[in-house]
Amino acid sequence: MSTVDWPTLTAAAVQVMHRAYAPYSKYPVGAAGLVDDGRIVVGCNVENASYGVTLCAECGMISDLVATGGGRLVAMSCVDANENPLLPCGRCRQLLWEHGGPAMLVNSKYGPMSMAVLMPHGFGLSDMEAVRGEL
Ligand code: THU
Repeated sequence: MSTVDWPTLTAAAVQVMHRAYAPYSKYPVGAAGLVDDGRIVVGCNVENASYGVTLCAECGMISDLVATGGGRLVAMSCVDANENPLLPCGRCRQLLWEHGGPAMLVNSKYGPMSMAVLMPHGFGLSDMEAVRGEL
């Protein structure tokens, strides 16, 4: 898949952002990912009275990815309440790395950025396979 329809991806992120459950931070987030088979998967943040239990929008999006058949993430758009792009937190970068790898693109106010730029030298399954002699 060579081109990414960023306006469509961002529109999906905006739509799901409006479903966020964020009564504590009042900072709703929506995430939409393009899968290598053309699917769009989405997620919004879901907060909790026990604050640390909060699920980021990207977590929900990854659940949607796996629950609807898996595949590799090609691109992702994540937005705040102003419909502006936001870059994923550190934990979510690790989640995205597993399902998109270094080439996956993430929308930002600077333009699309690769995961290789957002999380250089990231740890992943291949590091474990190398030690186990599976690579
Ligand atoms: N949040 C996300 O959903 N994704 C991110 O990458 C950054 C932060 C959420 C978590 C919390 O509900 C709210 O934004 C404020 O941190």
